[in-house]
Amino acid sequence: SRELPQQEAEYLIIGGGIAGLFTAWAAAKSGAQITLLTKRTVAESNTDRAQGGIAAALGQHDSPALHMQDTLIAGAGLCDEDAVRILVNEGPERVKELIKMGASFDRTGEDLCFTREGCHSQHRILHAQGDATGAEILRALYQNVSSLSSVEIIENQYVVDLLVKNNVCYGALAMDQITGQFRVFRGKIVVLATGGSGRLYNYTTNPEVATADGIALAYRAGAEVMDMEFIQFHPTSLVLPDAPRFLISEAVRGEGALLRNSWGERFMAQYHGMAELAPRDIVSRAILSEMARTRANSVFLDLTHLDPDKIKERFPTITQTCSKYGVDIAREFIPVAPAAHYMMGGVKTDLWGETSIQRLFACGEASCMAVHGANRLASNSLLDGLVWGGRIVARANHVLEERLPEETEFFCQDLLTTPEEDFIDLRKEIQHIMGDKVGPLRTAQRLAQALAFFERWSYLTKHEVRDTAKMEVRNMLEVGALIAEAAMMRSESRGGHFRLDYPETSERWQKHIILKGN
Ligand code: SIN
Repeated sequence: SRELPQQEAEYLIIGGGIAGLFTAWAAAKSGAQITLLTKRTVAESNTDRAQGGIAAALGQHDSPALHMQDTLIAGAGLCDEDAVRILVNEGPERVKELIKMGASFDRTGEDLCFTREGCHSQHRILHAQGDATGAEILRALYQNVSSLSSVEIIENQYVVDLLVKNNVCYGALAMDQITGQFRVFRGKIVVLATGGSGRLYNYTTNPEVATADGIALAYRAGAEVMDMEFIQFHPTSLVLPDAPRFLISEAVRGEGALLRNSWGERFMAQYHGMAELAPRDIVSRAILSEMARTRANSVFLDLTHLDPDKIKERFPTITQTCSKYGVDIAREFIPVAPAAHYMMGGVKTDLWGETSIQRLFACGEASCMAVHGANRLASNSLLDGLVWGGRIVARANHVLEERLPEETEFFCQDLLTTPEEDFIDLRKEIQHIMGDKVGPLRTAQRLAQALAFFERWSYLTKHEVRDTAKMEVRNMLEVGALIAEAAMMRSESRGGHFRLDYPETSERWQKHIILKGN
């Protein structure tokens, strides 16, 4: 064995989307030293892909109370009301900070523009460059954070495991993906801002990096995870041969686009009073039901009645991407179907982002304090990253006063047991099992098949593996099993979790499933 190189900072932040970068910025403002690790480059995250926008009660006729009401309705009875109150009340201030940092949201003259998305009673969603909101936020945040001498951003670091002793987290072991070098990063505060799990599914709007690593790391280290069964399937991802499941923003419907089945009929009004702007889980299931009824592999978004110039200006990225795959959205329908999009569950935290392991915090999509309940309200996720990034720093500063437990030696095991299995095939198999058996329509039988699959491969989660693709598969096996397990336990339907064998919502299940790592 040989000793590994080590480095230390006050904050060790894992993840470079909105949650990680905003935490870094807030921590730096409080005078702390920060190391921020990203799995690939900072540009690769769900934040970068966010289109619709960021919700905040900043409009003239809006209020935090209305925003709260809509969030609770979308959340289908499982939101933590205190968490939602914090989100809607602190959110507008955090968004104003983003604007001060230079994030340029779309305006008419001086006034901010607001759009609408599913289940919002008001126009309250800010957007940037039409449909490139996340990319603009990331640009502004990165520009600010990377210019600070107290923040060191290190890209291409794959975190292998958290370092935890006696339920206190004091750092992480990471592998440099370019050099293969292992390094120990010590932190007095460790923040998981590792994002979501979309890549556990065969159809997803998420980038390659979204393999639920943070949840697996925390669970393996003994943390509690919550609401794992609640996966949000976005109703409208592009369905074309050879095209990725590119997101077609809900804001398109907010601006008047209609959903039609493959017979050309509108259908949403039969499913919900808010029609095209019903809560996201309801629209997704309506689409699946129309696809089954008409025996088609998609439904269609129709923008052809809208002003073509306005569409191009308002949705430049969507226009360009669809055009690249041969669809002129001003004249033709866009074929769309649901795809895995967001994870409501995650590492359980309190209202300050603290997990059940001391000095380990989590924010953004990797975390769960039930602010989104069983189904997240559209455009609340960027806001969540900002609000809890800020709160973690507010809470964590006093922890910095305390001494860290002494832990000096870290050894790289030379004798690693790398199993022979073909991890590439296994990755695809996980994605198919999750899509087929743990997707938007679940049954006990399907879930049992998924659980049997995860049981068969569970021995791999115990193996030490030392290459990113394999480590990702290990984490996907871990988290896939947790999702299937919680989905099997919840014998009701609610929000993003739908059981064909228990289609009703049950009052008895107005509670959370918490699973604890060992
Ligand atoms: C979208 O633009 O439809 C996505 C918004 C979100 O997921 O919050």
